[in-house]
Amino acid sequence: MNHLLTLAELSLEEVLTLLDEAEQFSRGTHWRMPEPAFVANLFFEPSTRTKCSFEVAERRLGLHVIPFDADMSSVQKGETLYDTIRTLESIGVQTVVIRHPEDRYFEELRHSVHIPIINAGDGCGHHPTQSLLDLMTIRQEFGTFRGLTVAIVGDIRHSRVARSNAEVLTRLGATVLFSSPEQWKDDTNSYGTYVDLDTAVREADVVMLLRIQHERHGEKMGLTKEQYHEQYGLTIAREQMMKPKSIILHPAPVNRDVEIASSLVECERSRIFKQMENGVYVRMAVLKRALQSDERGMHNGYYFKK
Ligand code: CP
Repeated sequence: MNHLLTLAELSLEEVLTLLDEAEQFSRGTHWRMPEPAFVANLFFEPSTRTKCSFEVAERRLGLHVIPFDADMSSVQKGETLYDTIRTLESIGVQTVVIRHPEDRYFEELRHSVHIPIINAGDGCGHHPTQSLLDLMTIRQEFGTFRGLTVAIVGDIRHSRVARSNAEVLTRLGATVLFSSPEQWKDDTNSYGTYVDLDTAVREADVVMLLRIQHERHGEKMGLTKEQYHEQYGLTIAREQMMKPKSIILHPAPVNRDVEIASSLVECERSRIFKQMENGVYVRMAVLKRALQSDERGMHNGYYFKK
């Protein structure tokens, strides 16, 4: 069954196939299930981009999206995530997309449920579809990953985006630099080398900024927003140190004038809104992969032209 839980579980061939498929969707390829299919998006943490772009992707594939509001669901009466998924499975839902605050919430579920789970973010753990859309955006720009330097900057320790991206970018042949305040360095992530921010910005082909994950640590920065921006943010002065063709990424939501100067969010180098657009195509590819792997073998789906 094709769960998508972490990118580390996919071979490079599978990662590149998903990117190719996403490119096809971006060029207008259509794909449908042979019979009406139902999916549900279970978000136990706030989201704008991931939730809405999954919904757009689902609707573009002609899927029926079963509304699920965590605050109004029987989870509030104590139902477990396992029982929630088994319930949806029993009534005909064929894939679930889940965002959850717990790291690796999927560990037990992966062996006990009978429909694919697509991980839309687990705590500080992984965010595979964010990483795929980042890869798609980088490949569109540079045509390759090998030989690129990607600087991941900010709250590395609590970032599932940093964890997913550093691992897969390294496997794809890129060099990963990390730059972070001391207290948010991550000893468990060995896929990057820590450098000071000015060095990272000067050397990188891709500067990937991260939001401070206040909701995961509640740590006081010990700095004002202005001080953080000056010491650890992409200021206008630092943007001018970047290589001529280098680009800026940010998974968003963006805290303007904290991790990035507000006027840089939509500057020429920024691909932040392009990332969001690519998120729809990547999620179409991921949903197709999941639905094709239904263990009951009910359907394969088909391409068609309009
Ligand atoms: N990048 C991202 O995951 O954004 P949301 O939290 O809005 O989904």
